[in-house]
Amino acid sequence: MIVVTGATGNIGRHLVTTLAAAGARVRAVARRPPDTEAAEGVEYRAADLSRAADLPSVVEGADALFLLLGPELSASGEAAAAVTDHARAAGVRRIVALSSQAAGTRPDALSHAGLRALEEAVRGSGPAWTLLRPGGFFTNAYGFAATVRERRTVLAPFGDVALPAVDPADIAGVAAAALRDSRHEGRTYVLTGPEPVSPRQQAVAIGAALGTRVGFVELTREQAREHLLAAMPAPVADGTLDILGAPTEEEVLVSSDVDKVLGRAPRTFADWAVRNAAAFR
Ligand SMILES: NC(=O)c1ccc[n+]([C@@H]2O[C@H](COP(=O)([O-])OP(=O)(O)OC[C@H]3O[C@@H](n4cnc5c(N)ncnc54)[C@H](OP(=O)(O)O)[C@@H]3O)[C@@H](O)[C@H]2O)c1
Repeated sequence: MIVVTGATGNIGRHLVTTLAAAGARVRAVARRPPDTEAAEGVEYRAADLSRAADLPSVVEGADALFLLLGPELSASGEAAAAVTDHARAAGVRRIVALSSQAAGTRPDALSHAGLRALEEAVRGSGPAWTLLRPGGFFTNAYGFAATVRERRTVLAPFGDVALPAVDPADIAGVAAAALRDSRHEGRTYVLTGPEPVSPRQQAVAIGAALGTRVGFVELTREQAREHLLAAMPAPVADGTLDILGAPTEEEVLVSSDVDKVLGRAPRTFADWAVRNAAAFR
């Protein structure tokens, strides 16, 4: 049985369906599981990963664990250590953990200290491990949805800085492979999309998906920071803006790891925009 944490999020919901379609038994964990009926082989379990009392019921009877902690829980590294301790005690044999590319490219950044601690906890936990280090997610573009719906405009900072962001469905694909196949043990994968895309180019792609023109207005760093603070702690918002505005040489490179694991190129932002056009209508 495979435990998927973050099961209702951008990565987790694809991972649950991918694993179930492959015939795996899945325990899908979130604080608020969906009301809808689960797919065959999937059991939702309501649990809060910040509560030690919930952890035994998350990992009991599991062979493998997908570990995803949101920005707040991953801020200190303590939650990761608590979950991995319980996983080892419960006999989990393999952990696949979601980190970030910046855990490798920005070894001193305060914003990613928690994810570096998560990586350390996973590597030292006992079970076999695989670490996933994605770049920015295509789903961050949901942040453009309200102004695209209201006035056909994307508001974003650093309009012409292009980064090879990645489709969370591809991250889920790699996670599913690593959870089921021992060949990925001990590996750290950097996951990007197939090409760098700037926010201005994302606006064009969303427009093409909608069949209309979508304009672009560049925000200042300070304006963008205010938006980000609604969704993440201040150090994570500042670290995110550092990457978006001044990426390192490594952060603009396309990685071949999605292709190596899945045997196909990663999906493009234009393709994601078509599949998710309803969010912008
Ligand atoms: N966005 C990016 O560009 C980017 C880039 C690199 C890495 N990352 C990393 O990606 C992760 C976010 O992934 P995502 O976008 O798939 O997540 P997401 O869409 O934000 O979903 C978060 C999931 O975690 C669950 N969750 C949150 N708090 C929980 C708690 N205390 N206990 C149990 N479950 C909890 C949520 O369900 P409930 O709310 O119902 O509990 C939901 O299923 C973060 O760790 C972030 O650092 C993001």
